[in-house]
Amino acid sequence: MIGKINSINFKLKVGSKKGQNRLLRLHLNESSVDLPPYLKHEILARLKDLDWHRYQEENPELLAKLAKDYRLKPGNVLIGNGSNDLIFNLINTFGQSGLIVLFRPSFSVYSKMAQTLGKRFIEIPINLEKGYEIDLNPRILAEASLIFIDSPNNPGGFTVHPQKLREILDQSQGLVVVDEAYAEFSEASFANWVPRYGNLTIIRTFSKAFRLAGVRFGYLIGQKKVIEKLRSSRPPFAVGIFPQIVANVVLDNKQVIMKQIEEIKSERTRVFNQLKKSNLFSPLPSLANFLLIKSHRLSNRHIFRELRERGILVRIFDLPELRPFFRVTVGTREENDFFLKALSEIEKEKGYGSSG
Ligand SMILES: Cc1ncc(COP(=O)(O)O)c(C=O)c1O
Repeated sequence: MIGKINSINFKLKVGSKKGQNRLLRLHLNESSVDLPPYLKHEILARLKDLDWHRYQEENPELLAKLAKDYRLKPGNVLIGNGSNDLIFNLINTFGQSGLIVLFRPSFSVYSKMAQTLGKRFIEIPINLEKGYEIDLNPRILAEASLIFIDSPNNPGGFTVHPQKLREILDQSQGLVVVDEAYAEFSEASFANWVPRYGNLTIIRTFSKAFRLAGVRFGYLIGQKKVIEKLRSSRPPFAVGIFPQIVANVVLDNKQVIMKQIEEIKSERTRVFNQLKKSNLFSPLPSLANFLLIKSHRLSNRHIFRELRERGILVRIFDLPELRPFFRVTVGTREENDFFLKALSEIEKEKGYGSSG
């Protein structure tokens, strides 16, 4: 078991922080890289000068900055504690009457929240190869009060085709939410369609490309009346000053963030090409910061356990159609090499070693 001993030694280096032995977290599509210390210092300095004892409104400067990127007004923007918070708000507010239309697979929180809030929802099955390119029942679209489309899709990694989105927007009176959590990795965004389509809303997060999963910041852009309805149906002072200050500072330093996005995209291609050579695993093309990988002979639970033993966490799913798959975040070059090495060890141990 030389491979495993090597893995554990390597794990100490790769996955550890401040002397702790940690598992390599490739299961939540987080950024493997934190904000640089100088930005953290700037954020802390700005926070120190604020009135912590006062309730804080949404920061107008922040709303203006976010809106400006899309040539929209601050009134078209709503901020939230991560996009999950906004998803909850959307379902609570617009899932009241009518039907919530979801695709399956897609981000699991949509159905979980709809269920928790006791809303009526339907899941339209989509195929991982064709993505959203399926015939949609016009009656279902007409009945929908809310439709969620994650683009790129989690876990499929594909985006919605503009023609398909147009069709959905035209056929539905309900609010169509395009969740662009991974848009920075795909270069495809429909945010500039918002002024044209009254029923389009976009959600974005700072948890992925912006490296701020622990801070909890996301935002929504849409029509003013949609924003007002959402704002009035949530508790007052919903977003604290910490995420707002962090987002403000990070937006002023976007070039630092953009550099790492290019690195992740090139690593995504490298890992994909490497996996293509495998006898046991096949990656699906992805426009996000993760890859969905099909395991041809071993169950996803088996792969999960084998990787965990080697110090790596990946995501597996309960949906029957996703049983042969597991999802892995594209990390740093070092982390990706560690992951690829672990997979090739597993291949060899099971007698499927590739020559490449
Ligand atoms: C498609 C999608 N939307 C939203 C989220 C939630 O992000 P946040 O951290 O902003 O709540 C995720 C997280 O994995 C996601 O995959």
